[in-house]
Order: sequence, then structure tokens, then C-alpha cells
Amino acid sequence: MTDKTHLVDEITGGRRMRRNRKADWTRRLVQENRLTVDDLIWPIFIVPGSGIVDPIKAMPGVNRMSVDKAVEALKEAADLGIPAVAPFPDIEMDKRDPTGSEILSRDNLINQFTRAVKKSVPNLGVITDVALDPFTSHGHDGILRDGIIVNDETVDQVARAAVLQADAGADIIAPSEMMDGRIGAIRRALDAAGHQDVGIMSYATKFSSGFYGPYREAINTGGLLKGDKNSYYINPANGTEAIRDAALDVEEGADMLMVKPGLAYLDICWRMKEAFGLPTFAYQVSGEYTQIKAAAMNGWIDGDRIMMETLLCFKRAGCDGILTYFAVEAARKLQGR
Ligand code: PBG
Repeated sequence: MTDKTHLVDEITGGRRMRRNRKADWTRRLVQENRLTVDDLIWPIFIVPGSGIVDPIKAMPGVNRMSVDKAVEALKEAADLGIPAVAPFPDIEMDKRDPTGSEILSRDNLINQFTRAVKKSVPNLGVITDVALDPFTSHGHDGILRDGIIVNDETVDQVARAAVLQADAGADIIAPSEMMDGRIGAIRRALDAAGHQDVGIMSYATKFSSGFYGPYREAINTGGLLKGDKNSYYINPANGTEAIRDAALDVEEGADMLMVKPGLAYLDICWRMKEAFGLPTFAYQVSGEYTQIKAAAMNGWIDGDRIMMETLLCFKRAGCDGILTYFAVEAARKLQGR
């Protein structure tokens, strides 16, 4: 033994962490968390029409698809083992108005999509949002009156929209508009309509974030939005407030919780899982996707490696799954295809 070995043994008392890391087989044996395709929810963008696959500039590799094309893509996704899809509609501008009334039409784009998926890919879960932003002429998630997003009227509309989405076959309603009282109102409305089996995944902690930029290009709300969403989304500085907000959603009957955005908010994921023990999901949002893609396209980082690393880190932070635009790419990698 060298003097140097003596020194390290004296310092560590013989406890050497590297023993468990020494070979591939030990590393596999001691691995604490794993990503599987069962953890992936695929958010996709839907447009009216047919035969459309339209690339989104700020999200390389992501397309807006008409319902027929989306269904084709979802057959592959289901085949890869992806459990669920979360659709977001980019509807015609002339159907958007100050109250987002199109969300209440039984045959709107989102409901058409859900019916088509339930017919053609029946075993794929459909998780629909009820925020008004794809339907409003001002890009806000609620009804705008005298410069204020009015809470209670929005809740009423969102709850009615949830019933229509459930009627169309949605399995889980995921309200993202952060109005007070929405989870309880949606639960009551669903139950009154006989949708006891339709679940609620609350976007419990949705932060007022710059990471949503590319999404707003994708559904064309960016140019419409006046002001910001700070009066209803959570301040990125506030962790304890986020947990209090989630606690209300749990009391009101949420079945699952979500944290959004993802990577910059892993502490919230961990705290939520610890506090409530509900199935907890992270939304790796558009800006997170774009950062990785853009750097990878420049050859500055290994995009595949970082995609898999970030997704695994959500698991380590306590998440049961991830909404991610990488879902299909990651699933292909996990399935060796
Ligand atoms: C709004 C909504 C947002 C996202 C999905 N629904 C945020 C916003 O536009 O303010 C963002 C998703 C993403 O960035 O990937 N209800």
C-alpha cells in the first residue's frame, strides 16, 4: 500500500462509493430509478382540415396535424406503448372570441379529435385541457372583462366544457387555467353528467413562465396575448404557495397532479409527491424541448443523451410520468426501434 492509499483510507474510513460504480453490472444492479414507455404522455397539436402535417418552426421535429394524420401518428405511439395523449388545438382565428365560446360547441376540434381517437385507437388514454386560451381572441385562459380574467364565470364555462369533452370520450380532464375552485366544480359537473369514471389531472402548480413561448407559436396565441398571465399563474419565486394551491386541488378531488414547467421546478415535483402522495406528473414544456433541440442541432450537446437524462431526472424527483414532446423519440429509443 502506498502512502496515498493510507491517506485516503484514513480520510474515508474505508468507505468507498466507487465500489458500486466499478462495472456495468454493478451500476445496473444499484440503479434506483428507471424510465419506461409507461411514463410518457405525448402532447400534440391539432389543426382543422385533413392531410395536414405542418412543422412548427420553434419546435423542430414537432408538427401541427389534422385529426386524420394525428390518428395515424397515435397508432404508432400506442404501438410503441405510450399510454396517453394530450391534444392542444390550433383553431381558425374567426372561431376565437372574447369568451372562448367555441370550447362549448359539442363538435369543436378537440372533441372531434377525441372521438376519432376513441374510435381508431381505443386503448390510448386521452387527456384534455379545458383552459380557454386556444379559443379566445386575446390568448388568455379565461374570460376577460374590463381587463380582468374573471374567475367564477370562467369556472362555470370550464366545467361545462369538461362535460362536453367527457361526452366525446376524454378519459381525464386536465384543467390548466388556474382559476380558483375549478377542480371541485369540474368534479361536480362530471358526476352530475354521469361521468364518475372520468378523472381529473390538475395542472396544480402552473407557473408564470417564459418556457411556454414556442407553444404559443404552435397554437397561434402568442400574437394575440395582451399583457401576461401573472394574475392567475403562480410566481416562479413561490414554492410554498404552489404547495398550498395543490392542497386545495387535492381537497377538491383531483386524482392526479401536474407540475409545469418541468426541469426548473423539480423541487416542486418532489414536494408535491412528498406532501400528497398522489400520482404526480411533470410537463416538460415547449421551451424546454426547444432548448435541447436547438443546442443539439448546432452540435453543441448530445440531444439524445440529454433527452433521456432529463426524462430520467423527473423520475428521480418523484414524478410518476412526464408530458413530453419527446415521447415518441424516447419511446423508440426505449424499445430499441
Ligand atoms: C395554457 C397552456 C400553456 C401551455 C399549455 N396550455 C401555457 C400558456 O400558453 O400560457 C404550455 C405548454 C408548453 O409550453 O409546452 N392553458
